[in-house]
Amino acid sequence: MPDNIYILAIESSCDDTSASVICNEEILSNIVANQEIHSQYGGVVPELASRAHQQNIVPVVDAALKKAKITKEQLHAVAFTQGPGLMGSLLVGASFAKSMALALNIPLLAINHMQAHILAHFIDDANDEKPTFPFLCLTISGGHTQIVQVNDYFNMAVLGETIDDAVGEAYDKTAKILGLPYPGGPLVDKYAQTGKPVYKFSKPKVKEHHFSFSGLKTGILYFVQKEVKQNPDFIEENLHDICASVQNTIAEILMDKIKRAIKETGIRQIAIAGGVSANSEIRKRLTESQKHLGWKTYIPKFEYTTDNAAMIAITAYQKYKLGMFDAQNTTANPRLKVNS
Ligand code: KG4
Ligand code: ZN
Repeated sequence: MPDNIYILAIESSCDDTSASVICNEEILSNIVANQEIHSQYGGVVPELASRAHQQNIVPVVDAALKKAKITKEQLHAVAFTQGPGLMGSLLVGASFAKSMALALNIPLLAINHMQAHILAHFIDDANDEKPTFPFLCLTISGGHTQIVQVNDYFNMAVLGETIDDAVGEAYDKTAKILGLPYPGGPLVDKYAQTGKPVYKFSKPKVKEHHFSFSGLKTGILYFVQKEVKQNPDFIEENLHDICASVQNTIAEILMDKIKRAIKETGIRQIAIAGGVSANSEIRKRLTESQKHLGWKTYIPKFEYTTDNAAMIAITAYQKYKLGMFDAQNTTANPRLKVNS
């Protein structure tokens, strides 16, 4: 194997078109084109997402190669997100990557998006220190909420997951109730930072390591509707406190489950991954736990939390080292599981 392995990775599972070039474990470029079009619909419209990927993919890949200062002839492999995600969106990245690998006559690597969120921790500049196996990872995004025991790069077991909505959906639906644009998670987080958690919402009682967020969403909706009936300006006057209250409840639910998983597995190394791991309150509470409870916590850089191709690239590099290449007839899989 050459000393320096260059891989181009493409991510197109949902509504971000992203391309990244990695040299071993170092990210040389990570270009992300967000799709503004969905904000006016209050959520991702799959058909529009595929069309936007189709428009974005060539300029995004070009920009990634240019920023990395390499030519496509220098690449050793091309990687793409195989799933989970939206079928139409995945197909754009998969077809593009397959054609490129074929044209350049280099290996193809099909990458699991959920494994990639977790393995983003192994990017050279993702955090101060890389985790050691085994560790626990709380993967929290717009589509998933899972606690995963990570035994090795490609040996992961789901300890628990949501039985209904993902935590990111709870954030986005709360934002919608409050009249904030999609995706609302970052905005709820922003307003929460200058509010007080004065309102109480009941927490779900879900067995073992599992989660549930649909009841919380309904609780927030009924609470807001009731208050607005009495005072039509309730949201406007109390926006920051409502956001802080929701954020506090969500952070408590997540921390309770982490504590339980740590107690039962005896593993005290805990990482967070996925779009919601950008959340300031969750980051704060984990950092405090490291100090007070003796946990070792791994909190990734912001740019590696929401969907990005750098995480696909680092996972591809690990697969490349193991010789885990994929055939040209590999297909996109919208329902791929983290442990497959
Ligand atoms: O991982 P991601 O980019 O896409 C999926 O694979 O789902 O996650 C997107 C989710 C959205 O629900 C968004 O609202 C949420 O992550 N999010 C946040 C924050 N930043 C992004 N939620 C809470 N606080 C944030 N700071
Ligand atoms: Zn994701």
